[in-house]
Amino acid sequence: MIKDMQTLMVFCKSRGFLYQGSEIYGGLANTWDYGPLGCRLKNNIKDAWRKRYIQERDNSYEIDAAILMHPKTWEASGHLASFYDPKVDCKECKTRFRADNFITDISNGEVNGDALSYEQMEEYIEKNNVKCPVCGAHNFTSVRKFSQMFETYRGTTDEDKSVIYLRPENAQGEYVNFLNVQRTTRAKVPFSIGQIGKAFRNEITPGNFNFRTIEFEQMEFQTFCKKGTDSEFYNYFKDFAKKFFIDLGIQEENLRYHDHEKLAHYAKEACDIEYKFPFGWGEINGTHNRTDYDLSRHQEVSGKSMEYLDPETNEKYIPYIVESTIGPDRVVLAILSDAYNEENLDNDETRIVLKLSPAIAPYKIAVLPLTKKQAEQAKNLYKELSYDFMCSYDEAGSIGKRYRRQDEIGTPYCITVDFDTENDNTVTIRDRDTMKQERINIKDIKEIITKRMEQYKI
Ligand code: GAP
Repeated sequence: MIKDMQTLMVFCKSRGFLYQGSEIYGGLANTWDYGPLGCRLKNNIKDAWRKRYIQERDNSYEIDAAILMHPKTWEASGHLASFYDPKVDCKECKTRFRADNFITDISNGEVNGDALSYEQMEEYIEKNNVKCPVCGAHNFTSVRKFSQMFETYRGTTDEDKSVIYLRPENAQGEYVNFLNVQRTTRAKVPFSIGQIGKAFRNEITPGNFNFRTIEFEQMEFQTFCKKGTDSEFYNYFKDFAKKFFIDLGIQEENLRYHDHEKLAHYAKEACDIEYKFPFGWGEINGTHNRTDYDLSRHQEVSGKSMEYLDPETNEKYIPYIVESTIGPDRVVLAILSDAYNEENLDNDETRIVLKLSPAIAPYKIAVLPLTKKQAEQAKNLYKELSYDFMCSYDEAGSIGKRYRRQDEIGTPYCITVDFDTENDNTVTIRDRDTMKQERINIKDIKEIITKRMEQYKI
């Protein structure tokens, strides 16, 4: 596991997982661009989610709703009225803090700032003579509300421009389409709608690499169920998400549940799954029992019925919603932190090895010619294997260095074409974790790798 964020950030940039957004302009704070490897890793996580949450589940449907939604959506959802964070500013150096996190941090986790009211936060800052960590002064504003909604404008002229919002969560796209999906698929309650897409939040203190950013993705999954069955679904999805993370290869001891004391405006019960990042525990998933709050509010504000008609009992009701939501950007960060290892080898060398589950590794196979003489044969093999696997090809540098490069980016299998290949059609297959090499026939590569990957299948 990685020890500190700085090492991880340098590693991610140098290997092509994540780059600072708009870097050549000095960067846009808290935006990150995924490089070739990061992009593949995140896509593999999203594919695994699709398989687990949509494909393998009965009555589960994926949609792709618009990011820009009618502003009344956010009035109905309660975001315009309540999607605020508590902010406090240092009057001396003007640094702005998210007050609840600030208090948790300065108390070294002894006080849960999230559970305090605005008045209690002010009282804590005063009573404990809290100093600004940037300039050392004790001179703060009162704790005030800070809207997390990202505003933009639509309209063709300055005069007719009106404010609209970039969605702060995907969920509302699933709620406003609840009856569209139910009718077009003829689904019966309980059924689920999921989607993967971007969300935007004007976070006060973004940071910790890509943990808290202003633009991020969510994989959200809403289960529409009958009141009375909601708590059962809630408990079920808490476990379902944890198992998903373990199957992605995250070590169980680095995961924990965190039940919410202070609930969001829509929730009856809520629990996070947190990962033990180098900077501390941080949320990667949330399970929320949202009751019938959202659909009732959309019915009220839109004037359109959100009721479901049970075809068997003819009963009409607004379903309850149990939400399971995951941030794939945070999962990428958790998986990289978890998989990063520095190993001391027998020859006193150290190797960096990314012990990713082969199921989500950016490349499954690297094809390497031992010398340039085998390049043509190796390229042909690379092309052939690329029909079935995401492969990398590398002919630059010594074979030892090339193995190390693949270890560092988590490629589970290296296939080396050497002097004997031309004569006997055999190659070596090297395992990333054990570093063991075996001689195998070219015609068996696909079968052998498929079999080895089978045990990691998600
Ligand atoms: N629809 C419910 C909802 O949005 P949330 O707990 O606010 O709930 C869900 O967000 C997930 O989205 C979180 O568990 C986290 O993984 C991810 N997420 C939230 N804010 C984020 C941010 N600023 N940067 C990166 N990921 C974020």
